[in-house]
Order: sequence, then structure tokens, then C-alpha cells
Amino acid sequence: MGKKDKKQRHQQKHSRRTAFPDEDEEEYSLPSSAFSSSMLTLSVSESDEEERDDENDDGLEVEDENEGCPSTEIPSKFLLYQQSVQSPKGDISYLQKFFLMYVGGRLPLHFQEDFCGTALLSTEWLRSDSRRTAVGLDLDLEALRWCLENNINKVGADGYSRIFLFHGNVLHPSEAKVVNFEPQELIKNISLEEKKDGSAEDALGSTILEGSTSLAGDKYIRNLSLPARDIVCAFNYSCCCLHSRADLVLYFKHSLAALSKKGGIFVMDLYGGTSSERKLRLQRRFANFTYVWEQAEFDIIERKTRISLHFHFQKQQKKLRHAFSYSWRLWSLPEIKDCLEEAGFRSVHFWLRQMPDTGETKSTVGFGAGRDIKYEEMKHFEQQDAWNAYIIGVA
Ligand SMILES: C[S@@+](CC[C@H](N)C(=O)[O-])C[C@H]1O[C@@H](n2cnc3c(N)ncnc32)[C@H](O)[C@@H]1O
Repeated sequence: MGKKDKKQRHQQKHSRRTAFPDEDEEEYSLPSSAFSSSMLTLSVSESDEEERDDENDDGLEVEDENEGCPSTEIPSKFLLYQQSVQSPKGDISYLQKFFLMYVGGRLPLHFQEDFCGTALLSTEWLRSDSRRTAVGLDLDLEALRWCLENNINKVGADGYSRIFLFHGNVLHPSEAKVVNFEPQELIKNISLEEKKDGSAEDALGSTILEGSTSLAGDKYIRNLSLPARDIVCAFNYSCCCLHSRADLVLYFKHSLAALSKKGGIFVMDLYGGTSSERKLRLQRRFANFTYVWEQAEFDIIERKTRISLHFHFQKQQKKLRHAFSYSWRLWSLPEIKDCLEEAGFRSVHFWLRQMPDTGETKSTVGFGAGRDIKYEEMKHFEQQDAWNAYIIGVA
């Protein structure tokens, strides 16, 4: 890890240190959020300039403002996303807390990350306890493959045998296909499994080995026996990717079906507030790049908006615009509760956190904004400029 990385990690850690301040800092850092408390609202002139730049610009585009001059390569968009948006340790500390509160009686070991992208959270889940297993499901094959090559290899020797990545739609999970390991991973896995001195493989480990040895045929989730999950999650507002109520209920039914009969929880997050229903650009500066969250106009009839994530590299004079772009329906908290109950969840709980006012953060510099605000379970919460919520469905 270079000096800059260290500095960046230090800044990130401290910017997210808001939840459970009386607990161990590392354990209870603030969780992931693409829409961050520590972002600055772009000034009108900056914003207008960006908008002109972005006109008729739908796809991912790398713009080199320094054409012809030697410039350093920019990092992968997945790495940039993980650095600017995700804080898996914070997410996991909340997940554990919710599980102990609403289920209890055992440790959560088996985890499913829906809409997992690069499955950074699953990777961290595996790292935190060698008995843990993880299932990741996403539509984006490129992100899943990036995870295999860049995240799981950091877990340790048995990482590949405890995670299962699936390429598919959360609405049709039984159709999801195993993301195959590349031959070098396959060899690594086989030799690792053979080295085990007589110890029994868990269900996940043995099926992965089976799946890996057959690179030719597609393996479907429905043909595998996975351990029942203790926790299923859908983070970074991913449920907003589902636009109809019927789809949301169907998805919640699938989540419930994946949970253990001994008890389990489904956890998702959501953002909202008056600032979420209008055009908005926020940015956060990192040591070697700036992360920009762009919210398009908000349609109040369909409750839809488009969110685009951009990365700017001042040093290289490059911009990676629309690195990620999502069409989102902004669900309300009671809509989510109704759908979870309709899907069969026993109870639904809301944990909320007020975010710093997007109007007031214009002149804020650095990472300090909102550091000391923690999530709390709420029955009522007055509308704010910006808030973030965890929603927990108890099976
Ligand atoms: C906002 S990103 C969240 C990524 C990651 N969960 C995180 O916490 O940062 C949404 C992800 O959902 C995936 N996605 C969208 N619709 C999906 C669907 N119907 N089924 C599976 N994945 C989907 C996208 O490919 C993308 O990776």
C-alpha cells in the first residue's frame, strides 16, 4: 500500500467514524453509502459546467484533458467505486448488531449479498471469520469477474471455497449461473482442497469444487445445495433498481426463501429527504481523485431519477464520466414496509440517520460533516433535507 493510499484510508476511516462512538472504532465505523454525509454540494458554476460537458452523454467515457501529454493510467472504475462508496466493516458491524437484536441465539455465519457488484462486502464477511460463507448475486458479469480476480484473492487460502458468485437477476434467482473460476483459480482450489487433512468440507466448499471442475457446462443456483442464509442484504440503494411494486414483493419473497428456518434477517438501505427529490450534484475529494454523485431531475409521478457516478482525476487531467449510472425509483419507507410484510416477513424495523444538510455543506471542506450522527431505531422521523435508513425485515 502506497503513502497516498494510507492517507486516503485514514481519511475515509475518520470520515465514517460516527456510529456507536462508545464502541471500538474499527468495529463500528459508519457503513457504505454512495450518497455520503461527507460530500460537498457543487457550486452552481461548477455544476453548470459539468452539465454542459455531460450533454448527450449516456455511456461511460474517459475524457483526457491532457491529450498528447504523458499521463498516468487511471484505476479501474470498480476499484474507484469501492474506495469512494464502500465501507464494508461498518456494514458488517451493523448487520451483526441487527442479527443479535432481532434473531439472536447463534452467530450469523451464512450471508447473501444481492445486487453484490464486486462483492466487497461478501469478501469482508469471509475475512472476519473462517467459518463464514457468502453468496453474491448480480447482473453485471464484469463486476463479478473483477471480484474473483481482485477481492477474493485477498481473503486467504480458503477464500474461493467459501464464496459463491452468481450471475443473474434477483427476480429469478433459480436461473442464476455460477461465475466460473479461471483455470489458475481452479488449480489453486483443487490443490487447497486436497491439502485438507481429512477435515469435512462444508456444503458450499464441496459444491464449489464440483462446479469448478466442470468449466464447460453452466451451473445454476437451483442445482446446488447452499447453506440457508442467516442474513440477506441489498445495499447501496439497490432495491431502487426495481421499479414496480410486484417486482419488489417478488424479490422480497425470494430473499425470505433464502433465509434459515431457524431465523434470519433481510437488510436493505434507502436514502431520502427533500434533497433527494430534485437535481443535485455532490462531490467528495480523495487524495488522487474526486468522486461525484449526480442526481438528475426527479419525476414525482413515477418517483424516478437517474443517478450517475463520475470520477475526476486532477493530476492526470482526466474524467471518468458515467462510470456507473442507475435508473432508480425512490421508494418510500412505508411502501417498503408494506411490501416486506406482504412477502411474509414477521416484522419490519427502521434505523435512521439524519445526513448533513446539502445546502449547508457548500462551504464545508474536508470530511468532518456529520461525523457524530449515528443510526437509531425509529418509529417516527420528521422529514429532513437528507437522511439514510436501514430497513430490517425479520423472517
Ligand atoms: C447501486 S449498485 C450496488 C452495488 C453494491 N451492492 C454496493 O453496495 O455498492 C447496484 C447493483 O445492482 C445490480 N443490479 C441491478 N438490477 C439487478 C437485478 N435485477 N438483479 C441483479 N443485480 C442487479 C447492478 O448490476 C449493480 O451492480
